[in-house]
Amino acid sequence: METVVSGIRSTGNLHLGNYFGAIRNFITMQHEHNCFFFIADMHALTTHPKPGDFRESVRTVLVEYLAAGLDPELSTIYIQSDVPQIPELYLLMNMHAYVGELERSASFKEKLRKHPDNVNAGLLTYPVLMAADIVIHRATKVPVGKDQEQHLEMTRDFANRFNRIYEVDFFPEPYAFNFGKELVKVPGLDGNGKMGKSEGEGNAVYLRDSPEALKKKVMRAVTDSGPTQENQEKPEVIENLFKLLKLVSHESTIKHFDESWNKMTIRYGDLKKQLAEDMIAFTAPIRGRIAEIEADDVYLKKVIKLGAEKARESAAVTLSRVREIIGFTNF
Ligand code: ADP
Ligand code: TRP
Repeated sequence: METVVSGIRSTGNLHLGNYFGAIRNFITMQHEHNCFFFIADMHALTTHPKPGDFRESVRTVLVEYLAAGLDPELSTIYIQSDVPQIPELYLLMNMHAYVGELERSASFKEKLRKHPDNVNAGLLTYPVLMAADIVIHRATKVPVGKDQEQHLEMTRDFANRFNRIYEVDFFPEPYAFNFGKELVKVPGLDGNGKMGKSEGEGNAVYLRDSPEALKKKVMRAVTDSGPTQENQEKPEVIENLFKLLKLVSHESTIKHFDESWNKMTIRYGDLKKQLAEDMIAFTAPIRGRIAEIEADDVYLKKVIKLGAEKARESAAVTLSRVREIIGFTNF
């Protein structure tokens, strides 16, 4: 049995990229491993949300997590800010995280480019907080999408550095994890390589999208003018639609559209209609559970209280050992 940790920022509704990149793996893993899943509300503060919206989005992500299939009886589900040991470990790890390496992180460089007006220190040290989230439970497996690979590499660097500096073998090396071996990158509908909530309007399919909204989005997905020769390699925008089809559709459906692509008889309208239908069928049970769980305040409170207690208990064990290793005086 291994220890598994993963988190998601509370910055919006869950989409199929989150589901197939990260959550689907959690759900399977909780049956066989010691699993911790949390809502990264502290990470979400880098974008300065208003308190009302902030509170609401944490609740929403929690509801959608549970509706997607995370089970509080099997795993520890909690909110990052309910575990004070995490920011304490983050402070300690910051002492051995170098500004140069943090500035070189791809996600930091992207933020610099996209939001030059809000380059706060929290953004720079984002990977240190993420490392603290993971090593606080001494986890070895982290189910995340491909975009998080570099953060995991940095986490391993920080964990190994701690061990080296203090001459201990305390933190294990955590790795990004996917059952299919390859980490997943779910494409968006707008021809953009990645589905994401901060991408353009119409890029992402959300678990809570109504069937009508979902269908409208999918029917507007970017395509090209069609194949010009038989058995041609698919251009990226079309390959993206096939990648989405592979996530939600039956094998025979994929085979059918593959064959019609190869024979040049493909009609993109038919493909999108089928894709929308299969996405609607896939999300329907989750959507139903979202409505149920959302209305149940008592249940949500119970889940969060239990999760916070279990997460703090595990975190306290690690932190007390770290304080001892570092040499804090215990009079
Ligand atoms: P977003 O990119 O929409 O802001 P987050 O950054 O909050 O989503 O990602 C939360 C989790 O979902 C991470 O593990 C991330 O790797 C995964 N994820 C997000 N988008 C995708 C995607 N398009 N394909 C695969 N995994 C994804
Ligand atoms: N950085 C992750 C993201 O943007 C969220 C995250 C924060 C996380 N802490 C984590 C993921 C720890 C896995 C483990 O999606």
